[in-house]
Amino acid sequence: MKTEWFKNAVVYQVYPFSFRDSNNDGWGDIEGIISKLDYIKDLGATAIWFSPLYKSPDYDYGYDIADYKAIDEKFGTMQDFERLVDECHSRDLKVIMDMVMNHSSIEHPWFKEAIANPESPYRDYYIIRKGRWKKDKLLPPTNWISSFTGTAWERIGETDEFYLHLFCREQADLNWENPEVRREFVEILNYWMDKGVDGFRFDVFNMISKVYPFADDFDKKAFQRGGRFFIDGPRMHEFLKELNEKALSRYDSYTVGESYHPSREAALAYVRKSNKELDTIFDFNHLDADNIDGKKFFWKPFDLLQFKKGLFEPQASTYGCGWNTLVLENHDTPRSVSRFSIDTRHYRYEAATMLATVTYMGFGIPFIYMGQEVGLTNCQFDSMDELKDPVSHFVYDLMTGYGMPKKLAFSFLKYGARDHNRVPIAWDDSVNGGFNEGHETWQKVNPNHKEINVAADLSSEKSIYRYYQQLLKIKRTDEAAIYGETVEYDHANRKVIAYSRQYNRRRLFVVGNFSKSTVRYELPVWVRDADILLDNYPGLEWKGSGVVLKPYQALIFEEKQV
Ligand code: GLC
Repeated sequence: MKTEWFKNAVVYQVYPFSFRDSNNDGWGDIEGIISKLDYIKDLGATAIWFSPLYKSPDYDYGYDIADYKAIDEKFGTMQDFERLVDECHSRDLKVIMDMVMNHSSIEHPWFKEAIANPESPYRDYYIIRKGRWKKDKLLPPTNWISSFTGTAWERIGETDEFYLHLFCREQADLNWENPEVRREFVEILNYWMDKGVDGFRFDVFNMISKVYPFADDFDKKAFQRGGRFFIDGPRMHEFLKELNEKALSRYDSYTVGESYHPSREAALAYVRKSNKELDTIFDFNHLDADNIDGKKFFWKPFDLLQFKKGLFEPQASTYGCGWNTLVLENHDTPRSVSRFSIDTRHYRYEAATMLATVTYMGFGIPFIYMGQEVGLTNCQFDSMDELKDPVSHFVYDLMTGYGMPKKLAFSFLKYGARDHNRVPIAWDDSVNGGFNEGHETWQKVNPNHKEINVAADLSSEKSIYRYYQQLLKIKRTDEAAIYGETVEYDHANRKVIAYSRQYNRRRLFVVGNFSKSTVRYELPVWVRDADILLDNYPGLEWKGSGVVLKPYQALIFEEKQV
């Protein structure tokens, strides 16, 4: 029976490598997570999404899984995990696991067997094709490129065959046409749900169905060469329905799919309730409002209109037929307060609380990335050596390979690198920010941890965490905040974002100033005598029939009931 508990859920994302290191070995671990569950609960979260905890050689930090049914030793044991589930449940926190189904690690026994033995049935678990001889040169089967730069095909030893990898070459794409692969994943999902897991976040899910026959791609406008062969493929809906029927629907589960550049129609079909596929997907379009064409390293001045379009479109299309998610950060993005042309130095509290208000008061489930609730900022990186994410290096090599000066390439990386959000959480101003007891950490600790850390925020008069608590309480309990329809106001305004949420007779109005200047804003007539439900500045200044919004000021009004 589906209770649809997700509708007023608040999800907190933990990236286990960097949350809390309990045994002082430099890596975060399960015990460390357990020690901070009260902190997550007190914030107002109702569920936790754990980035991969599975056994992995970590070429892509957990997203290359070598055993889908085992917990990686560096994080703890299976008993530790089971205790984590119990500890979450005893606090009424749901457990959402990450699940990477598009590819496995090349160290997975399936892949090892497939390569070692050409007759093995595991050969057909992967996508293996013959290369093409051009004179005496062996070229990959197609010209597709990996999401992580370079060809998407890796030659198998000295043979003339290649395997497909749409990400790192250590992440081999699985062949979902093979019913055995689908059977494995049905079994894996059931295995974890039997352990009490309440839901899954499906990694790049809309790439599992490929388009056959394979061919070169010459679409110049495509986001990624080859994309039309592996994004929203023809069997996507069938595969998702199968997972639903044989696994997900048997439990009171919740799913969120991380979609990779889906078409609008496909995105809606995945979450249309009547289709019985996924409960929600992530839509990241609004997060591209400060980069060029979704290429997150290429910075451009923040475009609020683009942000609004990306934020509101999925709310409108899913309303009434499905459900939506609301995201500001995750382990693949930089810190939100360090983006969007924000003046973080002077207005970190105001900007962090404004961003949360205008994003999370929309229609959908708030997803909060660890550390965001205290306004952690990007990390000061001084050299490429300090970046651990392989993608940072691939992109840097690509840029410098094309002749871009190293300094310039590094400056792009410093803007968009995923590493920013992967550094250890600064809990206090002690050694290593209290992430551990002083052992060298797997990834640099942010040098600003002396000033910006969880303890400092909690003891500050202007605490971002405490603001989040109030905001999330509204999100969990206010009917209009949960079920209301979103109506946007003043779309063309380049400084202010504004919308209402209405459910039955209850109406809220949300407004936020995205600029560091004071802006006079004309409130809609019905809001003028409304009450203030929440604001990030004390008091409100009126000027005639309008209000004067201070830098990054945000407010939620509730209409007076007559
Ligand atoms: C998703 C993950 C990302 C990972 C990629 C490949 O985008 O969020 O961290 O690198 O998939 O698995």
